[in-house]
Amino acid sequence: MAKLTYNPRVFDVSDVESAKQIILTREPDASTEERWERETPYLAGLLAAHLTPNSGSLILDYGCGLGRLSKALIELCGCKVLGVDISADMRRLALDFVGSDKFSVISPEQFEEEVNSGLRVDGAVAVWVIQHVLDPVACIDTLARSLSSTGRLLVANTHQRCVPTVEKPWGKDGHEVRKLLAARLREIAIGVPDPIWVGENTAKSAFWGLYRPRATSELKDLNEVD
Ligand SMILES: C[S@@+](CC[C@H](N)C(=O)[O-])C[C@H]1O[C@@H](n2cnc3c(N)ncnc32)[C@H](O)[C@@H]1O
Repeated sequence: MAKLTYNPRVFDVSDVESAKQIILTREPDASTEERWERETPYLAGLLAAHLTPNSGSLILDYGCGLGRLSKALIELCGCKVLGVDISADMRRLALDFVGSDKFSVISPEQFEEEVNSGLRVDGAVAVWVIQHVLDPVACIDTLARSLSSTGRLLVANTHQRCVPTVEKPWGKDGHEVRKLLAARLREIAIGVPDPIWVGENTAKSAFWGLYRPRATSELKDLNEVD
């Protein structure tokens, strides 16, 4: 990103309240708490309907924050959830917030190591996070490699990138997350989050997508085209 310095410190938080405020910023028509209450059950239902986890499943919650969706998925489906978050504060708070022995949480570096060592998950979610990561291509590649052959990834994301930088709170770097996802994974469903639950502003600026891994031969063909 030209002349902008990535600043993941915006995700340093002191307590649950400040964590919620950075996860779901206040909108003109709804407070953080209203968005949290309205959106969480809707998104959890969307994730559960598309990933269909059961008590034997391991689901990845990438960029889990406080783990609101990990908690909801554990309650709905009885699955195990592995959270990943760049913020040590979020990881510490998430353990208490989720409060379940079915939940564990690690850093992106630890996750990368686990995937390189063979970790595969039955399903993955990445909600409001790929828009914020420094390197979305690398992030999507790790997510893709973490999926089992039958695993699916459900993403909810803004169309525009929204990168935390030192120079200004949220910058754009020109990457289109939906295009990057479809280049590395096979898009099998796409939609707009329901404005009733996520609010008009979020619905206008975001999409959700369901993805499956591409076969090795498909990836080879894509590389040859490149
Ligand atoms: C807007 S919050 C969304 C949290 C959660 N997915 C939810 O919907 O409640 C974005 C989260 O992504 C995390 N994050 C940002 N960059 C990340 C990265 N490169 N890898 C993992 N987590 C990251 C932040 O620390 C923050 O907790």
